[in-house]
Parts: sequence; C-alpha cells; structure tokens
Amino acid sequence: MIKTSATGNLFLGGEHRIVYGGSAIITSVDMRTYCSLEERKDDRIVVFSKGYEKIDEKIEDIASRQFNIDDFKKDEMNLTRSLMKRYMDSFGRFRSGFEMQVETEIPKTCKGLSRSTSFLCSVYKALSLFSDFPVPEEKYFFRILPLQREAHGGTASGVEIISSVFGGFHKVRSDGSRESLGKPEFNVVIGDTGVESKTYETVPYVRSGWEKSRESYERTFKRIDDIIEEEISAIRNKDIVKLGGFIDENHEILARDLGVSHPKLNELVDACRKARAYGAKLTGGGKGGAMFALVDEKNQNKVAKAIVDAGGKSYITKIGVEGLREE
Ligand code: MEV
Repeated sequence: MIKTSATGNLFLGGEHRIVYGGSAIITSVDMRTYCSLEERKDDRIVVFSKGYEKIDEKIEDIASRQFNIDDFKKDEMNLTRSLMKRYMDSFGRFRSGFEMQVETEIPKTCKGLSRSTSFLCSVYKALSLFSDFPVPEEKYFFRILPLQREAHGGTASGVEIISSVFGGFHKVRSDGSRESLGKPEFNVVIGDTGVESKTYETVPYVRSGWEKSRESYERTFKRIDDIIEEEISAIRNKDIVKLGGFIDENHEILARDLGVSHPKLNELVDACRKARAYGAKLTGGGKGGAMFALVDEKNQNKVAKAIVDAGGKSYITKIGVEGLREE
C-alpha cells in the first residue's frame, strides 16, 4: 500500500501581486490531504473521497477522456481524472488498475487554503510511487501547473504547488522559482467566513482595476514588495511581533487598495486583532474564503473563540510544517 500526504497553504503576502511578475511568500499549513493507493489485479481505476462522486473506470477510459474547462469548476474529481490522464500521456499507461482513497482535513467550504493543490500533490506523489516512471519532486510544479490553471483559470500562478510539495516558507515567483526561507513553525488560527470565493473571478477583478489605473496599482505593488522583504527578515529571525505587524498591513492593502476583501473577512480579522493576535489577514484570492491570525499557544483559544463569536469557523493549526511526504 502506498500512502502520501500534502499540506494546504497560506499566503503571508504577495497574492495577486505575483500575477504581475512580483514575488509572494507562501507557507504550508498543517491541514493535510492523505492519499492511499493499492494495486488491483484488473484494469480499473477506483477512487473514493468522502463527499465526492466515486471514480470507477477503466484505465483506457480515463486515458482517452476529453475535458472542457467547465468540467473543473465542480470539484476535485475531474481534476484527479485529468491528472491521471496527463500522467499517462507523458509516461504511458499504468501497468494495472488501482484503488485510491483520498481524504482531506481541509473542509470543502474553507476556500483559500489550497485544498485542490494539496489534493493534487498527494495524488501525484502516489501515482509517481506507483508508476514505472517516478517523477522527482523538483518537477512537480510544471507537471501540476496545468491542472492548477484548469482549477483556477488560465492565469493562476500555481505557486501553491511549491508550498504543498516542499513545505516550510518560500519566496516564490510565477515562473516557479523559489527561495526557501526555512521551516520555522508558527501557530495560527484559520478563520473561515463561509463566503464562496473564486480565484478565477478575483484575478480578473484586480486586473480590470490595474488596467484602469496602472500607476496607483504599481505604487501599491511596490509597497507589497517592500512588505515581503520585511516579512522575510522577520521569518528568518523568528520575529513573530514584526511579522504580525506586516501581516496586518498586508491585509489593509488587499482590502483598501486592491479591493479583494469582504465585510465578513474584515470582521474576522478585526475580531482576531481585538483578541490580541500578532496579526491577521485574508489569504489567497479573497472576496470571501479564509483568513488567518498569527498567534501564540497562550492566546490561540481566545482568538479561535473570537472568530466563532464573529460568525466564522475556526481551526487552530500551524504553518511552516513539512510538505509532501510518504506516510
Ligand atoms: C490565489 O490563491 C492567489 C492569487 O495570487 C492567484 C494566483 O497566484 O494564481 C490571487
């Protein structure tokens, strides 16, 4: 039996900015997707995942399937089919069928934690361990990127893949280059607004603003770039107070200058700040989805309660943890 797992992710800064050639800081979240794979004696691929349709098809049917872009907006199962098809397009048919079970700790409703990326990375690693043609992890970014684009729209940077695979903290660019910032672990509380958020809608939204008013957007991007450098030094020095301050500023920029927050996100962020979190911001595309607060163990329960009292769902977890692994 093959068993793998991959993490979800958070942006400490640079979401949206990265789409315009800048950098972002991304980190792994200790909310994992687990994949197990067992060989079958026949030619069927069977995939179970709670809350999703079951896949039960012949290898050949998956290999010859054609997809259109709307197939990917529904859920991860067509992405899984597409991932398997691409694997076979590149490396030939799997030598036999298999049974796969995928379970994720990232709730379906909690958008912005790279649930689909962690799903795809854990499945890809299981396929790679099963296949006669294993793929080194350094190559995962470019292999999984087309799927990321199918899930999030053609312009997705896909940098979440880097974080799900390598874990820790990374400064990343949309060409897939990465600088590791190490693996210090910090406590966070995630707040889920429950408000639907779609990256394939928020990215064009920011672009339309940028097209109308490039100069002011470029000024905003410059400030984001500066904040990212400050955050990098805070991460390297494990300076949680300084990091929290820049996380706060980052949220304000995303909310006021890029317009990608949501009243519910702002309420959760404010509640965390009142509960004495070091800093709090939305993460990812925005306009809904998740936010997180940087905390220490002493106040994490208080911050989690503040999120719930403000109408969100809370998850106490850690960032900076190990990425993709064999279980
Ligand atoms: C979404 O998770 C992050 C964005 O920067 C889009 C992207 O990088 O593809 C908003």
